[in-house]
Amino acid sequence: MKATAVAPANIAFIKYWGKADEALRTPLNDSFSMNLTGAQTTTTVAFDPSFTSDKVELVGGVFSDEEALRVTRGLERIRQRAGSTLKAMVLTKNTFPKGAGSAASASGFAALTVAGFSALGTTLSEKELTVFARLGSGSACRSIPSGFAVWEKGIDSESSYAYSLYPADYWDIRDILVIVDKRMKKVSTSDGMEQVGTSPKLAARLAAIPGRMTGILEAMKKKDFARFGRILEEDCLDMHAVMQSQVPPIRYWSDATERIMDHVILLRESGVSIYFTIDAGPNVHLICEGKDEARVAQSLASITGIEEIIYNKPAGGAHTITEHLF
Ligand code: DP6
Repeated sequence: MKATAVAPANIAFIKYWGKADEALRTPLNDSFSMNLTGAQTTTTVAFDPSFTSDKVELVGGVFSDEEALRVTRGLERIRQRAGSTLKAMVLTKNTFPKGAGSAASASGFAALTVAGFSALGTTLSEKELTVFARLGSGSACRSIPSGFAVWEKGIDSESSYAYSLYPADYWDIRDILVIVDKRMKKVSTSDGMEQVGTSPKLAARLAAIPGRMTGILEAMKKKDFARFGRILEEDCLDMHAVMQSQVPPIRYWSDATERIMDHVILLRESGVSIYFTIDAGPNVHLICEGKDEARVAQSLASITGIEEIIYNKPAGGAHTITEHLF
């Protein structure tokens, strides 16, 4: 009754910011993302009749009480669905800094869901796995399917699921994740999103998203990178405009964030097809095609304030592996 799963983080090109139902973590809008090869979580889950309580540990770090409780609640949902009462030991390992965006919770809950059900011998459809991952952290549902995923907002829990639109090898898109601050973000995504309704810009954002979804999926189909990039950058700036106009306002950017954004714009003006997107934190994802990655990487050498750079290609989805962490 032990299983291990690996799940990728994902970067959203059309972003999720705001819930229709807080408890079910159903979103206010559809979103679209790409799984990342360079930011992954491995989780081993073991259920055992001798365990008297759930134990949740992180390799090279510690979960806060709140985070551990969120994982335990995830285990509870898995047990309920699988018809088990056994307690579990969970060990998890990330290849990237926790809190450096929403990445850790997305890959974390995707890995927990796949490993948890596998450890109890319960086989679910990919669709149902995405729903269970979503209940842990919304964006985690997009880390289950392979490659490029759509998360439909749906009208209830069952219809709010994610699926793969294209496999990882469909288009050689790169995400150069520029880390300017490894610390945990100050306002968690869950807390930040709760106030989304106070932004006067929310209605305009929700009205614009269906058009943006259609546009980016068309660009994807035609592999029209300039259109693809324009739309993803526009959606990023729009989400941050909503965040910054909430009450109280949330500004996730730092000086270094703005420096990187300026750098991308200058690079683009010099003829490189490059765009940026930013989640709920100060780190910047530079999006380009494979052919331009070396040039972008080289250009970053002169920028101050960069702590680490993670180079990502499109990744497959969450899956089990036979090597366990304990
Ligand atoms: C800005 O999925 O972390 O990264 O459902 O409350 O756990 P919870 O939120 P989470 O939010 C991700 C927000 C985002 C945009 C995105 O990934 O779509």
